[in-house]
Order: sequence, then structure tokens, then C-alpha cells
Amino acid sequence: MALPCGSGRRWTRAAMMTFCLFFLMPMSSFGSRNTNTIFDKKQKLEVQQQLKHLNRPALKSIKSPDGDIIDCVNINKQPAFDHPLLKNHTIQMRPSSYPEGFSFDESNDVSSNSEPKFTQPWKLNGRCPEGTIPIRRTKEEDLLRAGFAANYGRKKHHSIPSAQYSADQVIHEYAVLSEQGDKYYGMMAEINVWNPHTQQTTEFSLSQFWMTAGRHGQDLNTIEAGIMVHEYLYGDNNTRLFTYWTDDSYQNTGCYNLVCSGFVQVNNQIAMGATITPYSNYDGTQSAVKFYVWKVDINGSGDWWMKIGDRDFGYWPSSIFSILSNSASSVQWGGEVINLMQDGQHTTTQMGSGHFPEEGPGKASFFQNLNVIDGLKTLTGPRNSQTIITNPNCYNLINSGDSFYFGGPGRNPNCP
Ligand SMILES: *[C@@H]1O[C@H](CO)[C@@H](O)[C@H](O)[C@H]1NC(C)=O
Ligand SMILES: *[C@@H]1O[C@H](CO)[C@@H](O)[C@H](O)[C@H]1NC(C)=O
Ligand SMILES: *[C@@H]1O[C@H](CO)[C@@H](O)[C@H](O)[C@H]1NC(C)=O
Repeated sequence: MALPCGSGRRWTRAAMMTFCLFFLMPMSSFGSRNTNTIFDKKQKLEVQQQLKHLNRPALKSIKSPDGDIIDCVNINKQPAFDHPLLKNHTIQMRPSSYPEGFSFDESNDVSSNSEPKFTQPWKLNGRCPEGTIPIRRTKEEDLLRAGFAANYGRKKHHSIPSAQYSADQVIHEYAVLSEQGDKYYGMMAEINVWNPHTQQTTEFSLSQFWMTAGRHGQDLNTIEAGIMVHEYLYGDNNTRLFTYWTDDSYQNTGCYNLVCSGFVQVNNQIAMGATITPYSNYDGTQSAVKFYVWKVDINGSGDWWMKIGDRDFGYWPSSIFSILSNSASSVQWGGEVINLMQDGQHTTTQMGSGHFPEEGPGKASFFQNLNVIDGLKTLTGPRNSQTIITNPNCYNLINSGDSFYFGGPGRNPNCP
């Protein structure tokens, strides 16, 4: 579908909301609670088929206290290998190389002394055996919320930080640091974990990184991961780990987590889409999670590996991308929320901790230990970065080189 929301045409806010929401987020128009009215038999059948396709046979299933079911699926039968370009793919159980200069030694990190390591509630109730990976089971209601099954787990409109939209067009709001102007072969970032309030189920609030190449609306390739509250996608307001990728500017390829084929997971301890805990406390204990991404075989067409905390989590095979099979042209870090302007007012959906960056340590959300692997294949802090802040009165960002504070409460006297 053409995406008028990203086309740069001038729309009044009201017209655009109606149009974009109806066509691009069809789910939102129908509400998320009452889902049984608009589905006929054919759609119900589609949903059943889709569930069968999404949920692979499990060797073991674990019921999480938060209501999720985690299926332990044979690693060789994971969704990735349905991808037409991965038919002959040999799974890589570990990265063939680690980037020079990346320090994975968590104990070297000053802040880690006081920080608890992240965990996921499902692990209270079991473990996935070796040779399997944990996959969050998709429920019928997850698909019903998505309006129709093919929408499930996919972004359908522009989702990279951009300042090109005029203020009256903003649905996505960003407070982001963007590094461009070179080739990039990796990045690292430590993301502060909070549980931002979201006003409506169809709004989300996230903290993530993006590595991108190509042109927006055309051949944009992205690798993305982070943490998000997305009630519409997951059915609750927990903060959850996620990944995303696309090879065609969010049109036909890519998805969240392991919902489609492509991303290869090798780790049996972390489930994408599952809740991440503990959350940070305002003026109290801070919790954070580290993401590392790097291209192995940097001179050739190597896969993009991701390490989360101290675990090699998995990889985006180079062959699923067109432009990113070579290198990225930007690395971005920060927060994004959806602001639906209900009743003509700015949303109260929070970004980060819900507090402005001026409040600083312990109170505002941070990204720290920012690094990129640059065109010289050297690990370095951001050097060509600029901020993208759609509305600093609602959500702001204060940059200090290799770290920043960001976020805000949304609606407030200066952001009506
Ligand atoms: C997989 O291998 C077969 C047999 O060698 C070959 O014909 C086919 O093109 C390969 N597919 C891919 C996607 O590389
Ligand atoms: C999440 O939802 C629960 C139950 O509806 C509610 O009590 C809680 O305040 C919500 N949390 C946030 C951060 O909005
Ligand atoms: C990549 O190529 C450069 C020269 O272009 C070489 O110096 C370097 O050793 C190569 N790196 C690897 C990992 O092969």
C-alpha cells in the first residue's frame, strides 16, 4: 500500500489522523477490547491458520507469571528458516568473530556495581533446554487485536526518527541522537529500563537503537532493537524486549521479534517480546540493558550479530538485506512515542521515565556507553551526531557525547 502518511503531503492533523489510523493502523479504529463483532468465519479461519503457522511445535512450554506462554522450540525449526533466502542456510551457533575493542566484561562497567542484571519473569517458572530457543506464543487475542492476521507484528508506517514532518503532522514523536556521515559496521548502547505509562492501547512508548541504510519510503533497510510498552501488540502495559528489521522500508518484509522469518536466534535464555525486569525506580535503583551489534567478516558479506547483556543472542543473516548486507549509513538511539492527540490534546503517554532529561541521574532515562564501529572499522564514540527532537516541550534530550538523558511526560502546561 502507498503510504500517504510518509509522503510529505500537507494534511491537516485531523484528516491525517483519520486517514492514517484507519488505513495504517486499522486495528485502532476497532478498539482492542471488543474484538468479536467484526470477524466472520473466513477471518476466524485465517486467524487459526496464522496461529498454527506462527506457533511452532514446542518441546516444552513455560507459563510466565505475566500471562505469557513461552514455547521452547527446536532451534533448527525456528521461523527464520522459512525465509526463501535461508533455505540452504547453515545456522551459526556463535559469532565467527567479535569486534576489536568491544568490552563485554560487565564487571568493568562502573555502573553495573549497583545495577541488577536484567531478567524475564518466565524464567521463574522454567528453562528452555539446550537445542531449543524460547519463543513467546502468539495468542488468538493478539491476532484479533491486529484487525487481520497479516498485520500482526508489523510496522505499517514510517518508523525511523525524522525531523521532516511539520508539527501538525506529527503522530510519531522522537527524542533521538542520530549518527551519520560514515559507514557503520556495528554499535553498542546501554539502555535504561523504565515502565512508561501509555494513555491509549494503540499508543506505544519505546527506547531503541536503529541501524539503517537506504532511502526512506523506498529501499530503507533497518536493524532495530530495544524495549517497549505496546499494549496493542502484547495485550498489557509491561516493558518488553523487542527486535525489528525491514529490507524495504516497512512495506513487505520484516517484523517484530520472531513473528516472521529472517532473524536467527541461538540463545535459550532470552525471549523476544517477553517482559524485561526489573524496572528502574525514580530516584532509586537503576536498571539497564546493554545491546551490541556487529557485522562479522566485516570485509565480506557477514551477518549482523546481536549480543544482549552477556549473551550472544542471535543474528540477522546478511542475505535477508539488500543494502545492509554491506554496511549501515546511520546509527540512531533514543525514544519514540505515538501521540494520537485524543480530544485535541497531546497524549499523556510518557517517554523514558516520564521525566525530562534536565532531572538527570536516577530520575531521567538514559542511553550510555554509546559507540559505533566506523568506516575505518574502529570502535569509537559518536562523532557526527545530531539530535532529532520533534517537540522539546513534550519530550527532550540532553546530549553529552557518548551518553544522553532523554524523555518527558508528554502533556503538560507547555505541551497542551
Ligand atoms: C539452495 O541449494 C540448491 C541446490 O544446491 C540451489 O539450487 C538453490 O538455488 C539454493 N537456494 C538458495 C536460496 O541459495
Ligand atoms: C498498567 O496497567 C495496570 C492494570 O490496568 C495499571 O494498574 C497500571 O497503573 C498500568 N501501569 C502504567 C505504568 O500505566
Ligand atoms: C579488512 O580489510 C582491510 C583492508 O581493506 C584489512 O586491513 C583488514 O585486516 C581486513 N579485516 C579482516 C577482518 O579481514
